[in-house]
Amino acid sequence: MNFESDANTIITALKNFRQESLSQTEPVINQAPLKQIIDELKLETLVKEGNLTSNNLALFTKKYLSFTTRLHHPSYLAHQATIPHYSGALGSLIDGFTNNGMSIYEMGPSAASVEYFMVNWLLEKVGWIPSPLELDKLNSDQKFGGGALTHGGSNANLTALIAARSRIAPETWKEGSPKDLVILAPAGCHYSVQRAAGIMGMGQNSLYLLDVDDKGAIIPNKIDSVYQQAKKDNKRVMALVANSCSTAVGVFDPLDEIALFCMEHDIWLHVDGAHGASALLSETHKHRLKGIEKAHSITWDAHKMLQTPNLCTALLVRDHIYIDQAFEQTGSYLFYEKDQPGFDFINRTMECTKGALGLKLFLVVGALGEKGLAAYIDTLTQTTLDAYEYISSLPEFTCPVKPQLNILCFKIDGSDNLQIKIRDRILSDGAFHITSTSFNDVRYLRICIMNPKTDINHIKQLIQKIQIIKSRLFL
Ligand SMILES: Cc1ncc(COP(=O)(O)O)c(C=O)c1O
Repeated sequence: MNFESDANTIITALKNFRQESLSQTEPVINQAPLKQIIDELKLETLVKEGNLTSNNLALFTKKYLSFTTRLHHPSYLAHQATIPHYSGALGSLIDGFTNNGMSIYEMGPSAASVEYFMVNWLLEKVGWIPSPLELDKLNSDQKFGGGALTHGGSNANLTALIAARSRIAPETWKEGSPKDLVILAPAGCHYSVQRAAGIMGMGQNSLYLLDVDDKGAIIPNKIDSVYQQAKKDNKRVMALVANSCSTAVGVFDPLDEIALFCMEHDIWLHVDGAHGASALLSETHKHRLKGIEKAHSITWDAHKMLQTPNLCTALLVRDHIYIDQAFEQTGSYLFYEKDQPGFDFINRTMECTKGALGLKLFLVVGALGEKGLAAYIDTLTQTTLDAYEYISSLPEFTCPVKPQLNILCFKIDGSDNLQIKIRDRILSDGAFHITSTSFNDVRYLRICIMNPKTDINHIKQLIQKIQIIKSRLFL
């Protein structure tokens, strides 16, 4: 075994993978059947024989990458997965190699310190007070924000709602979830919110749906009627979840006005900014998040819009107490008061062992700078707006919503089924990767422009392809 030469083998393969993707000489997606992939990768033989090094490793990696979806390809227009900066990927390598499960400080002083610093960096972007670096001040009465990085936005949404419940019903950890708690949210909230209610034993019926406008955004002056209904039902509102932005069409809820209502009624406001919180870095687009600093908690995925490899989500809170009291639990070997020079994140997250998520984010910010990331967000949004102008000008196409960031839905004239068939054809051909979604009970094709190498010509080629597929389907 030779670490250096095997690492070089993999770096060469990745370099080729990136180059082939950028030059579009390979399909963006190659969904061979599962059994074929297992056979072609020779998994059975390799598991029995071992010896996956040198030339064997080179062959395996080349084959593996041939069935890998290519996010670096400019025709990658599908899910909300960022095109990772290579510095972040190198962070994943350092993390995997050193394997510091950093939720307790002694298991990763560097990783924990970098996470603490990056959480503070994100808190400042929201407009919240960062946590002190002098840890003896953590127990003071001083108000400051807090947070932790978690493996994914779904996990962060669940953690935020657990924190909200611990605030309104601290007895929950001992006695179980009270039956009278409900969550207010728009129908277009991410499914992880509903799932969190299920996991927390509140049941999915505990979600009271808020009225929304034709774009799916919460209508602030209609929140009260749902709130009054909850009260009539003898329920206590545990939290209101707002989207920044929604998954399906990328629309931002009006946080400023929503926050006002929440403040008046002492309701925990959770902003699901998994996708859109990154707009805080952009001078052009941060107005979409006006009022976010009045929230109690925020989910912010760096692996969606900050070029950081999976997974790296921040769960941020305005007051660190919210998260420090979220999990009331003891594990004597981990939780005793110890005299140590650092900070244990373990009390703030569901994970026990955790990756060095902050390192990946830090390496990307360090490489690109805040301005580089702002430019990334601005470029993606501008291309999406250009795509909207173009597609909505075509007589055969409809866009239900003008994009507010980098998500765009559209349909070609025809049934829901036609849109689905078109997407299936596009994916099996492999020239483009797009998704589809249902919005206001209509099926749309959906693109997320994640790659700064995507330009309007790629969009024009996609549209042409859709027109050709439609005409063939009707032959
Ligand atoms: C608004 C929103 N919240 C949460 C999530 C879930 O995030 P993750 O995929 O990191 O679990 C998504 C993912 O698409 C999202 O769009």
